[in-house]
Amino acid sequence: MNIRRFQLGEDLALFEVYYSAIHLIAKSDYSEEQLNAWAPLDLDRQLWMNRITGINPFVAEIDGQPVGYADIQHNGYIDHFFVSGHYPRQGIGKALMECIHNEANYLSLTELTSNVSLTAQPFFERFGFVVVEQRKPLIRGVEMRNALMRKSL
Ligand SMILES: CC(C)(COP(=O)(O)OP(=O)(O)OC[C@H]1O[C@@H](n2cnc3c(N)ncnc32)[C@H](O)[C@@H]1OP(=O)(O)O)[C@@H](O)C(=O)NCCC(=O)NCCS
Repeated sequence: MNIRRFQLGEDLALFEVYYSAIHLIAKSDYSEEQLNAWAPLDLDRQLWMNRITGINPFVAEIDGQPVGYADIQHNGYIDHFFVSGHYPRQGIGKALMECIHNEANYLSLTELTSNVSLTAQPFFERFGFVVVEQRKPLIRGVEMRNALMRKSL
């Protein structure tokens, strides 16, 4: 596995990672209506490209194929953190989390935060994050439970 920065032109490959992470892994915690609101198949491609380019994530690849991605913003906020539903529990998330911690160290950040899905909370806890607030945001009009999590560095 190799981890590097996002490259222009791979937004569709990252959409496949995002879509499969949500529809194959998070499906144990959310209804079909919630999954379709979170990751609609007909998501506007331009909007998606702008979103991914804007967060400039790190990408984990195996044999040149993206299998996971995660970002870290300059204030320590992690916006996206997804591992392909075809590669669960193989250490890809751990490698991305280590990469984010290295970047946080490089940026001299004092904390990491993220709004974390029910599915990913045990994973974030494993890396020292704690729940600060339970949330019920509306995503495309559908209520989804998640939690604001924080880790002091
Ligand atoms: C959460 C997620 C990123 C984890 O990625 P992953 O590559 O499967 O995680 P790893 O294999 O690196 O796991 C590392 C450790 O985290 C913990 N962990 C990971 N997933 C877990 C789970 N579902 N339940 C409990 N612990 C978990 C384990 O301790 C694991 O070590 P182990 O496999 O040796 O027991 C991935 O499951 C995912 O994308 N989920 C769906 C999308 C999502 O909700 N994303 C987050 C949005 S905020």
